[in-house]
Amino acid sequence: MCGIMGYVGKSPASGIILEGLARQEYRGYDSAGIALRREGEIINAKIVGRVSELVRKVGELPPECSQSTSGIGHTRWATHGGVTETNAHPHESADGMVVLVHNGIIENSREIRDELESNGIRFRTETDTEAACQLLAVLYGTCGGDALKAMRKLTSRLTGAFALVIMFRDRPDEIWCARKGSPLVTAFDGSASYCASDPTALLGHTHDLCFLEEGELALLSSDDLKFYGFDGQPRDKSPIHLNWDSVMADKGHYEHFMRKEIGEQPDVLRLTIDAHTIVTNVALEKSITLPKGLMKKIRRVQFVACGTSYYATIVARDIMESLDGNLDISVEVASEYRYRNIRGGEDTIAVFVSQSGETADTLAAARIAKALGTHCIAMTNVRGSTIDREVEHTLLSLAGPEVGVAATKTFMGQISLLALLVMHLLKERETLSASDEARLIGGLRSLPALQQSVIEREDEIAALAKKYCKSKGFFFIGRRECVPLTMEGALKLKEIAYLPSEAYAAGEMKHGPIAMLDEKLTVVALVPDTDLREKTLSNVEECRARNAPTLLIVSEGDHDASAHANDMIAVPRTEPELFPFIGVIPLQLFAYHTARSLDRDIDMPRNLAKSVTVE
Ligand code: AGP
Repeated sequence: MCGIMGYVGKSPASGIILEGLARQEYRGYDSAGIALRREGEIINAKIVGRVSELVRKVGELPPECSQSTSGIGHTRWATHGGVTETNAHPHESADGMVVLVHNGIIENSREIRDELESNGIRFRTETDTEAACQLLAVLYGTCGGDALKAMRKLTSRLTGAFALVIMFRDRPDEIWCARKGSPLVTAFDGSASYCASDPTALLGHTHDLCFLEEGELALLSSDDLKFYGFDGQPRDKSPIHLNWDSVMADKGHYEHFMRKEIGEQPDVLRLTIDAHTIVTNVALEKSITLPKGLMKKIRRVQFVACGTSYYATIVARDIMESLDGNLDISVEVASEYRYRNIRGGEDTIAVFVSQSGETADTLAAARIAKALGTHCIAMTNVRGSTIDREVEHTLLSLAGPEVGVAATKTFMGQISLLALLVMHLLKERETLSASDEARLIGGLRSLPALQQSVIEREDEIAALAKKYCKSKGFFFIGRRECVPLTMEGALKLKEIAYLPSEAYAAGEMKHGPIAMLDEKLTVVALVPDTDLREKTLSNVEECRARNAPTLLIVSEGDHDASAHANDMIAVPRTEPELFPFIGVIPLQLFAYHTARSLDRDIDMPRNLAKSVTVE
């Protein structure tokens, strides 16, 4: 939520900052701003709208601003205060000494504001951020212009979550950063220092990145990058080399990142399998080492995540459950896990899944599990992210940077790695038979080509999306391995097409939702050719009897299913547990083309941000 970019070096800063903001625009895009230097002053430019609008406004600044060799920028996802130019960042202190951008929520901003206002400081905005900005200016004065001391004092006063990036008017070659609870990554390339919320913003400059830890400060300058703790003590930090290609974060010839990323899924799956298997065996030992004999003592396994990542964990639970009937396996929404009286301890393993590795609820849940003595495993797509650094055992999914706000290829990265993790854990427990292992690995290996064949039928799916996009709403129904897909299919449609869409286990329809059915509500039913085919088709018939149009996702060759459908999309057959790997693709494409038919902003849907770093 909110994207930050900072630069101090020898080149003109504005282009570098604007490009960094554009790369992070998916983090927040209701307003944007930039601060640049001009003759001893700091000039702010802010707009309501997209970074492209900010580019235009920067073009209208006095020409000297384009020569500024340092600056900071921000794209906003509003929390406190409406979406206005005044509330957009950067914020400036009343005396003009401090200019600051922020990602997070400062929880005690009201108290700080009241205190400063009673001392005569006039606030201009409705934001929580301005309290930090005005307070820092006061502290900088009382500390006699000692920036490190003022930063220490500031960070000890603020509660809540913050990534702060700051320019002081009288320190032209410096940018200061502070991190507590919100991500911030820094880098030095020999002649310039950078900071950003997300590594993808820095990859065009360097791949050697220093992620700020909780409670750390950074001092960026053109010839150095230094770190301190909130106690003011210097810290050493070695860069992490991030092996991502910056072109992976480009759209290429695609109209939208989401479409490009849907198409990358066969590669993500292939890469994951190649990296973690040998012939028909799982080989995760190098990536994750749990204490010897631990899995035999484990009684409870918890999968914890939010949103699409949560649906990925349901896929994992179902696979695990089907292979081992003696484990107590649960899936938990992180925002609930953190407030329930959850069980944990030595006999429990908890797997926390977050593509960004920065989701506030998932991080909080992991901290709780750690405190209970639970064995924790994190799974994330971002090396160096908070969850990667905080949780003892981390598995990195291999999806590469995902830019579209709607998760697609990272879901594939997660379910493929989760399937392998489940097999690995059960092998350690000695409950995975060699035949199941070979069957599932073989099944996974055959999937990329099958997925590709579904992607190639895009035109057919696009035509169906066009036909149904005027529906007043959608129900997604299915049973067992299809249930997480009903949730993901409905979420995708809500996120990017803004259409009412609900997911139901097919058997649940008649317990209430069926009352809503009529000829304007479309039912999308997932009906692969398994032992549950007939039962799901009975539920489909119940919908048809109430005049609802039905769009079925069925197995190739199941021609008889057409008797129950207005329209069908046939997908290749798989091992039953692995159906989600193939069934998700038509749902993603259907949501994508529905949103396209309705002319929605697919990569940056309204009200959303890709990483949810606030509670
Ligand atoms: C999915 O399309 C959404 N963008 C959202 O539900 C997302 O999966 C959720 O916010 C969790 O994010 P994370 O995986 O980065 O923790």
